[in-house]
Amino acid sequence: MKVLHIDSSILAGNSVSRQLSQAIVDQLKVKHDDLKIDYLDLAQQDIPHLTTAILMGENPAQTALTEQLVQQYLDADIVVVGAAMYNFALSSALKAWIDRICAAGKTFKYTENGAVGLAGDKTVYIASSRGGVYGENHPSDFQEAMLKTIFNFTGVDNIQVIRAEGVNMGPELKAKALAEAEQHIQLI
Ligand SMILES: Cc1cc2nc3c(=O)[nH]c(=O)nc-3n(C[C@H](O)[C@H](O)[C@H](O)COP(=O)(O)O)c2cc1C
Repeated sequence: MKVLHIDSSILAGNSVSRQLSQAIVDQLKVKHDDLKIDYLDLAQQDIPHLTTAILMGENPAQTALTEQLVQQYLDADIVVVGAAMYNFALSSALKAWIDRICAAGKTFKYTENGAVGLAGDKTVYIASSRGGVYGENHPSDFQEAMLKTIFNFTGVDNIQVIRAEGVNMGPELKAKALAEAEQHIQLI
């Protein structure tokens, strides 16, 4: 079983989403003994913004990178993505990854009846961290909402959010949020 483990926080060792994504992968290891894990650290591996030249296939190295990222996403049975809320949205590094894996004809296609996802046969775990408290479906949430929309667009229905929020609202709230997220992870 193939796992694609992605981190995108810029807070290195202080990152909450990195702590959660690793705990999810560790829990998956307890449940499955045949895991093959691909790790993508988007704070380390720079995925350049999508440009006209890259989109038009005029940069062979970047075309190869896009193809590699798309195939890695397609191959994964499970995707674990560490996603911090930055300015109500995702890190720009994670957005750059999204811009590569949303590939017409590979991860989705357009039909007479609208878009159809082609990468649906997988489970996605979103390890979400937020300084404030938003809960589910908050109007200012362009982080979890975007990820759910994108994974759904590529055909994935099985999306689970493990969230620690209010982590910048004092040590007690942070500890409570982390403990609740850890409990949630034990139930995966
Ligand atoms: C650049 C930056 C922007 C942030 N923007 C928000 C925000 O819009 N809303 C919020 O609740 N927290 C915000 N925070 C707090 C982070 O969501 C919080 O620190 C969270 O733990 C980040 O995940 P990470 O620890 O994995 O990096 C921001 C933090 C940084 C560094």
